[in-house]
Amino acid sequence: IKKIGVLTSGGDAPGMNAAIRAVVLMALNKGLEVCGIQDGYLGLHQNRIIALHKEDVSDIINRGGTFLGTARFPDFKQESVRHVAIDNLKTHKIDALVVIGGDGTYMGAKALTQMGVACVGLPGTIDNDIAGTDYTLGFHTAINTVLDAMDRLRDTCSSHHRISIVEIMGRYCGDLTIQSSIAGGAQFTIVPEKTFNEEELLNAIQLNSANKRNHGIIAITENITDVKALAKRIELKTGVETRATILGHIQRGGSPCAFDRILASKMGAFAVEILIDGAGGRCVGIQSNQLVHHDIIDAIENMTQKFDENVFNLTKTLV
Ligand code: F6P
Repeated sequence: IKKIGVLTSGGDAPGMNAAIRAVVLMALNKGLEVCGIQDGYLGLHQNRIIALHKEDVSDIINRGGTFLGTARFPDFKQESVRHVAIDNLKTHKIDALVVIGGDGTYMGAKALTQMGVACVGLPGTIDNDIAGTDYTLGFHTAINTVLDAMDRLRDTCSSHHRISIVEIMGRYCGDLTIQSSIAGGAQFTIVPEKTFNEEELLNAIQLNSANKRNHGIIAITENITDVKALAKRIELKTGVETRATILGHIQRGGSPCAFDRILASKMGAFAVEILIDGAGGRCVGIQSNQLVHHDIIDAIENMTQKFDENVFNLTKTLV
């Protein structure tokens, strides 16, 4: 191969810039040309493709977001749209693609792979919901962001003898909630992988309150229940004042932590090596501290990200 393209797609995640930087620097190092595709598959379809040089990726390792831009582009599910994208790759003489993003991005890469484009996927999402890797890029930074918010909420809720409900992103994956909950010492942890029993929660809060434990944090993943309404029901049933905070997109921003920068640098460089070795249709991961790559179609169709019961149980034990 002579020229590779790189894009970021779907929800941004801290560490995406570090990954792009690694792809560009490794490729240049190996004598390849590199192009950046703006706003993910949308920009690929619209032919917004620019040459990237060393100076384009200086001063970005520490920046959150993605300097290439990103987008959610459901139209990429259409084969005709992908044909236009592939024509654009051909026009720019791009032989292979590195795509950085979450499950939607991987679906796009899978479809491109099936149409003969050499693709390597890097897991970039704060959700940690990608099969074939223990960690996704942005996950650890997001834990720290949630933790910072939780610590602040703890200050105020303990002063006021209140319960604080903290709604955390993650879509259908509770990892961000669980890790933040352990690090932040939350009293209750509610995740999509476990059926939410509101009655049980209310009874437990009532019991705590009878034992004079009338403040604490409830960490809950988004899309499980209306947290503002839940706060009202808790107050009504238990008499403990309760407030709900939806952390929202704050969790997606910010300078990537060291772990994410290092992982992004390793994965970006590894992706280029994989493509140079002639492999396409792969997705990169880190498993048991080793960089690995899997067949991207197999990863999407047959592999699942395992829910860690032990670590979830810890959230219940350490209260
Ligand atoms: O996938 C990352 C994520 O932040 C999820 O946690 C969240 O459900 C979703 O993206 C929000 O998407 P959007 O930025 O499109 O509102």
